[in-house]
Amino acid sequence: MKTDQYTAKDFSFRKTCPEIPNTTYLTHKIHSYPAKFIPHIPRWFLKEYGRPGNTILDPFCGSGTALVEANLLGINALGVDINPLAQMLLKAKTGLVDNHDKFSSQCLDIVEKTHEYPPNYVPDLPNLDTWFLPQARKELSQIFGYLLDNPHQFPDEVIDFMLVCASSVVRKVCNADPQISKPFISKRMRALLKENSVEQRALHLLKHNTRIFLDRKIKYMRTIDNLGKIWGYLPTSKMVMNSDARTLRNIRNQSIDSIITSPPYANAQEYFRSIKMELYWLSLLDGDYLKQLNKEIVGTESLPISECRDTPEFGIKELDTALEEIHLIDQKRAHIVLRYFQDMQASIEQCYRVLKPGAYFGLLVGDNVIRKIKINTHSFIQEIAEGTGFSTETVGYDRIVARRLTPKRNVSAGLIEIEWMLIFRKPGL
Ligand SMILES: C[S@@+](CC[C@H](N)C(=O)[O-])C[C@H]1O[C@@H](n2cnc3c(N)ncnc32)[C@H](O)[C@@H]1O
Repeated sequence: MKTDQYTAKDFSFRKTCPEIPNTTYLTHKIHSYPAKFIPHIPRWFLKEYGRPGNTILDPFCGSGTALVEANLLGINALGVDINPLAQMLLKAKTGLVDNHDKFSSQCLDIVEKTHEYPPNYVPDLPNLDTWFLPQARKELSQIFGYLLDNPHQFPDEVIDFMLVCASSVVRKVCNADPQISKPFISKRMRALLKENSVEQRALHLLKHNTRIFLDRKIKYMRTIDNLGKIWGYLPTSKMVMNSDARTLRNIRNQSIDSIITSPPYANAQEYFRSIKMELYWLSLLDGDYLKQLNKEIVGTESLPISECRDTPEFGIKELDTALEEIHLIDQKRAHIVLRYFQDMQASIEQCYRVLKPGAYFGLLVGDNVIRKIKINTHSFIQEIAEGTGFSTETVGYDRIVARRLTPKRNVSAGLIEIEWMLIFRKPGL
């Protein structure tokens, strides 16, 4: 059954979890990430549909918000994401260490060592000199050079955590405008550059961010340790390696207790472009890897125009009418939208495969306006899920309050005022 905003449930997630003090508590604010969940959403879902000791999955886990919340509820969590930064963030946010003091002092020791390190490391980033002034380039080179050249001088968890701290500094000393998610030297930044007012002190910021992130991580670890004493075990978060939401490779059939996720929006995000600088400094993008990632992302725009001539057809009447209308105006855009729904269908089928019978699947998604044509993404996703075998349990929405969590989109993508929460159930038991 299709639902509109008048008949759907108003979730107002922020009111549902009074125990969450703010959206950035504990490790949620280690490093920025585009289009993050507010932690209330996965927490509400997991309190409703999860149990301590369960294993849940987020197939588009991004910065790991759902996994952090799962662990705080005693639930084990698996994450899938094609973004290589996601794995580092997950370890930094949920990894536990026995000796907190030793961990902190090793991290701060690294901060000191970077000051003395020769600035020989040069990332593979095209037009490096345009994006960074000499002082920022030198200090970033000392930081990343030290961490990448000396992977064995400290335990892996220390180096990984420090790489995340280092990555959090990159955009702060970059000539690109921090208020625009895609790297871009705006008029405002050009004016700042003329006045020599663009922040350059990467080493100073590394120290500052490391202290703040350590404080958050230690509070998180203490919380989990204390809860673990009550539960009698420590829940884990793991990234499923070499996987993709469209295949869920390396996840067994019927092995997952519930899924909570927020996939990319149709044609509305530029995940890799927005964190390109960080990925290059971290040496996570070699050769054509960025191109490959841009092809694999759900919502990809990397489609050859020669494949966009035919009228796109998905098989849902209302969607096909919208696709035809977009195709008359913009052939490529229409095929980008078609591909988005094909990829989402593959992903939903995989979610069905890995869930246990009777399990719940929560999905947060926004509608779009593309070339002035409304795309009711949520109702098409609902139709796809029902076609896969799921039954719809609840359809609701939440107003987007913090716009910075959903960075500006390009004009053709339109704005998303509300996000839809769809809850499905796999039949059985
Ligand atoms: C809306 S974000 C998820 C944000 C996440 N809920 C959080 O709180 O950080 C969507 C994520 O989907 C990931 N993604 C896109 N295509 C994917 C694919 N084919 N397989 C797995 N992840 C993918 C992106 O890298 C991005 O991290």
